[in-house]
Amino acid sequence: MAKDFSTMEDSNRSSNPTIHEISDPARRIVLLGGGGAALAAALGPLAGCAVAPAPAPAARPTLGFASVPPSRADHVVVPPGYRVDVIAPWGEPVGVPGAMPAWRPDAGNSAAEQALQLGMHHDAIHYVALEGSRRGLLVINHEYTDDGLLHPGGMQPWTAEKVAKSQAAHGLSVIEVAFDGTRWQLVRPSRYARRFTATTPFAVAGPAAGHALMKTAADPAGRRVLGTLNNCAAGLTPWGTVLSGEENWNGYFFPADQPTAHERRWGIRKNHWYRWHEHDPRFDTVRHPNEPNRFGWIVEVDPLDPTSTPVKRTALGRATHEGAWVALTKDGRAVVYSGEDAAFEYIYKFVSRDRMRPGGAKANATLLDHGTLYVARFDADGRGRWLPLQHGTGPLTGDRGFADQGEVVIKARQAADLLGGTKMDRPEWLAIDQASRWVYCTLTNNAARGGEGRPGVDAANPRARNTMGHIIRWREDGDFDGETFEWNHLVLAGDPANERAEAKGNVVGDAFACPDGLAFDPQGLLWVQTDIGNRALNQGEFARLGNNAMLACDLATGEMRRFLTGPVGCEITGVSWTPDGRTMFVDVQHPGESPGERSDPQDPQRHSSWPDHREGGRPRSATLVIRREDGGVIGT
Ligand code: FEO
Ligand code: CA
Ligand code: CA
Repeated sequence: MAKDFSTMEDSNRSSNPTIHEISDPARRIVLLGGGGAALAAALGPLAGCAVAPAPAPAARPTLGFASVPPSRADHVVVPPGYRVDVIAPWGEPVGVPGAMPAWRPDAGNSAAEQALQLGMHHDAIHYVALEGSRRGLLVINHEYTDDGLLHPGGMQPWTAEKVAKSQAAHGLSVIEVAFDGTRWQLVRPSRYARRFTATTPFAVAGPAAGHALMKTAADPAGRRVLGTLNNCAAGLTPWGTVLSGEENWNGYFFPADQPTAHERRWGIRKNHWYRWHEHDPRFDTVRHPNEPNRFGWIVEVDPLDPTSTPVKRTALGRATHEGAWVALTKDGRAVVYSGEDAAFEYIYKFVSRDRMRPGGAKANATLLDHGTLYVARFDADGRGRWLPLQHGTGPLTGDRGFADQGEVVIKARQAADLLGGTKMDRPEWLAIDQASRWVYCTLTNNAARGGEGRPGVDAANPRARNTMGHIIRWREDGDFDGETFEWNHLVLAGDPANERAEAKGNVVGDAFACPDGLAFDPQGLLWVQTDIGNRALNQGEFARLGNNAMLACDLATGEMRRFLTGPVGCEITGVSWTPDGRTMFVDVQHPGESPGERSDPQDPQRHSSWPDHREGGRPRSATLVIRREDGGVIGT
């Protein structure tokens, strides 16, 4: 999701006693070597687990495609020798048996119909194999809605039915797909087909379950929440489930004229994007002050069990979570990395107390409920430390406002403030190299850094007015549960030194800005997706970069090469592969969006008509299927 910097005044203004030393950025940008295997390749399945084994990387992967140039076209461009198809746009029925309402191009589907169709604004996507690389499930996040497009008349008038449809277009979809030797197609009906929406019941697990701050009139036990919101990025677990992040949930809640200090710290304010509270009072925090505490969690869904209850995993901490990604220690404990995509917020990790067990999701149903949560501190000397968010440790005591561990995880931001975590330039996706233990994180941008009253640069976030973003990486001392680490930068995006013709010591390759999506493919190539979303960013220094794009990085040589450009106004976000690396699924979000504005229902195709390009239609977020025409491995 693109963010408008002008709306971020509630972000973390306070100044932690952390690093403000300005280091020479070039000192910590490395030429890369020996990237090793990707997490996806390294995490083989346990018995009963649905994650298909991926081949171990053979030789070092190399980039084997021709770079595509920046584009302003209203279609998707991929290199010669590749084919791209649209498979799952917003509004297609997911395939629930006996309930498959057809898509109406005028957005005339009802809320009840939308709840059986793919939601709006696709983000993360994961392929979960049913039959290797020929048949599987796609689990897709639907981050947010553009209510100007979602209803035939936009938001005029604003009604309870429109609120219900907006809520039904949020959440996640599970769809079944199969390859017939030539093309991938949806399998409908499918017993796996499912929607999770903003009204689906979720169980609450971990230290915040049943906490006083989680109790509401509708849920006096504080253990059952209706819905998930703003699901952005996601990680596949080694036990076959998907962890999905609730990101900008604060924008759905409407507070009093004077929000509480807790609400202000979490960015809950009146000038927000959504107006659900006008017809659904649980989004009015005056009437339901604890309802916001029930969002901002990592949710776990089991796509292989259509009857399973999804769970909010509160031990992983509350945040405006981009997503969550899992590594395993050598002895089988789960280490979950996550970041909070907001200016001057934090990077976290959770280390489970217990070991993963054979038996898939059911055998690991409480694995993420017990363990230790940490926030990252990046020091100026290239070292770092994980600081535990543990009740009773350091400042996290009752007299500082933390009655118990439940309150620590609910107020994770406030706890991280006290601990002195490093305030980052909007952490988005993470990607884990299980073999080498390097963990990568995109820091998409932070134009506010160095501004008046805001934190200045530090070694990990070395650029004031960081409009272009960067990618940081770290490696734990010992195993993934290490409490100290080394770190450096993979790349400062937008640096002219990245241009192929002028390569000088930085990562070499095609220019890009605002890295967001990040993932290793089964061969070990690192893929980067961009989100240059702000209106100002599409001008001036950004104009030459064109529409948002996707690049591959060969970590062995350090080269970044542009592979795909999206249609006008879109964000490229979400990528997954079949285990053989021969099919890639990519999501295109919000084609035609003019940042900061809802689309005009009277002129819905003003900026884009992708993918249908039909009169009277609407631009639609959609999943792409990409294959090589010769059926070979993608990217190499
Ligand atoms: Fe939903 Fe931070 O992107
Ligand atoms: Ca983004
Ligand atoms: Ca994102």
